[in-house]
Amino acid sequence: MSRIFSGVQPTGDLHLGNYLGALRNWAALQNRYECIYCVVDLHAITQWQDPKELPANTREVTAGLIAAGLDSETNIIFNQSAVPAHAELAWIFNCVARLGWLNRMTQFKEKAGKNRENASVGLYAYPSLMAADILVYKATHVPVGEDQKQHLELTRDIAQKFNNDFGVEFFPMVEPLILGEATRVMSLRDGSSKMSKSDPSENSRINMTDDADTIARKLRRAKTDPEPLPETPAGLDGRPEARNLLGIYAALCDKTMEDVCREFAGAQFSRFKDSITELAVSVLAPIGGEMSRLTADPAYLDRVLARGAEQASEIAKPVLDDVYDIVGLLRPAP
Ligand code: TYM
Repeated sequence: MSRIFSGVQPTGDLHLGNYLGALRNWAALQNRYECIYCVVDLHAITQWQDPKELPANTREVTAGLIAAGLDSETNIIFNQSAVPAHAELAWIFNCVARLGWLNRMTQFKEKAGKNRENASVGLYAYPSLMAADILVYKATHVPVGEDQKQHLELTRDIAQKFNNDFGVEFFPMVEPLILGEATRVMSLRDGSSKMSKSDPSENSRINMTDDADTIARKLRRAKTDPEPLPETPAGLDGRPEARNLLGIYAALCDKTMEDVCREFAGAQFSRFKDSITELAVSVLAPIGGEMSRLTADPAYLDRVLARGAEQASEIAKPVLDDVYDIVGLLRPAP
């Protein structure tokens, strides 16, 4: 049986990249698979988080998952630190993963920046914890945006090395699910850099909590080029901003790039921007409204997270027990 696992960090506002690269696909998968979705607070603290803000951010992201359409009754939704099996398996994986593997991780290089000596050890070991998140449930499929592909390849390397080292067929080889036409949503101000929470320009991203006026203003200011829109996706080569906006449009209405190019062939950006604004507002404004309704009831969100953590622990515990046996770690007798 296939099992889905994925995670999102509570490090600030969820944006359109998170929605189109991850959350929207998670909602589409929920009735076909057993799904476990995690707010990864232990990953968040690999970079400084204000302890006064982290609980609210964790609840807000939980609200985002539910507002994006995840049914909290049929999916397991919880925060990572509430299930200690993640951190326990991550330690074992730290002893399986090789320094050379982690040295190649581009996300570490980007996040650590020039001052690598000052990055936390946790940021360096981030991918081991991510492998533990997935494999502690023996999940088989992981829906993510394009930027997480390298981490999932590392997860497969860790699973394979663990199986080889201990002579077992224990962990499955996970498959990334990188779905839709917006697997890498780019900044609205620069089509060559990824839309991200850490971009200092608010105009570079649309947040899931932005109201209709803000969405419209950001799209009006989005960078474009002087050419009319092409008839086919091939005409988008060398036009990163146009490709990004058409990809966003396609993903928001579940169409292909071919369909969207056909629809707007020869149009100027002014006409296209009116259409994408109308579409983005019609999809995102109700989600933003639902998020504020849900965040006003933290007790409800805490109940969802507590129930999710209990269900997740039940799945993780026997897997971790088996890992301890395989590795030869004694547990106190019950
Ligand atoms: P995070 O919080 O950075 O992002 C959450 C999800 O959003 C996707 N995403 C994007 N997709 C398209 N375009 C973008 N501009 C964009 N920005 C973000 C990410 O690919 C991700 O799917 N390491 C993960 C969290 C994690 C995880 C896991 C994921 C921890 N453990 C286990 C899968 C399985 C992350 O950085 O998420």
